[in-house]
Amino acid sequence: MEYLDFAIELARTAGDVLKRYMGREKQVEFKGRANLVTAADKESEALIINRIRQRYPNHAILAEESGASGGGEDKWIIDPLDGTTNFAHQYPVFCVSVGFEQKGEIVCGAVYDPCRDEMFSGAHGQGSFLNGQRLNVSDVDQLGTALLLTGFPYGVRQKIHLAMSQFEAFVVASQGVRRAGAAALDLCYAAAGRCDGFWELDLQPWDTAAGLVILEEAGGRVTDFKGGPYSIYMKEIIASNGKIHGEMRSVLAKL
Ligand code: IPD
Ligand code: CA
Ligand code: CA
Repeated sequence: MEYLDFAIELARTAGDVLKRYMGREKQVEFKGRANLVTAADKESEALIINRIRQRYPNHAILAEESGASGGGEDKWIIDPLDGTTNFAHQYPVFCVSVGFEQKGEIVCGAVYDPCRDEMFSGAHGQGSFLNGQRLNVSDVDQLGTALLLTGFPYGVRQKIHLAMSQFEAFVVASQGVRRAGAAALDLCYAAAGRCDGFWELDLQPWDTAAGLVILEEAGGRVTDFKGGPYSIYMKEIIASNGKIHGEMRSVLAKL
């Protein structure tokens, strides 16, 4: 598929930019108290946007650092560096996420982890892959034996009680909870069966666009906290292997 191949090419090339920056002295700016942006975020995004503009001048773009541009039904949704806080501390968990939306539906996406040279990709109706190997979600069917992932939004200090009550409830109900710091990779890890479920508050479209199609194509399920249909423009997400989805919903419903 033309768009998937292009998404993969963009994610890999931008990932190489991040790798080049890794270990160098970081020039960090703050968008908010805990929300930072580095030169690598900016260079990665500029590279991706330039390539899209050259190849598809009529397509719209929604990118984290520069916002929305262009109109129409074909839209590229970009996180040039997911896991910026990790990156700034040289904690090797970050990625590039490139999703492609047509007529409001995410049709394909690629998430690239340059530290492990792992390329996750997926296209609607065509399955999802890690470095060319087909992905399938895990078989774990009980929350008590499930490994869960989550993250905290930048505004967590304003929602600390809610975030901590969710965290506490899932720590108690599951086998374990991890908080690695790159939501796009969290979704891909659920697709790869490296974890069984994920939830988070206040994610942005660029965090989830590519991961959504990759997880669904691996057999996973993604909804809002009430179990209703999920859109990348929503603020709440439960993403799982499908088998523990109901139990995850019940945990959140009790809070
Ligand atoms: C962040 C990461 C993190 C999540 C935050 C996101 P960024 O994205 O995905 O895992 O918990 O909510 O904002 O800012 O590193 O691209
Ligand atoms: Ca992000
Ligand atoms: Ca980012």
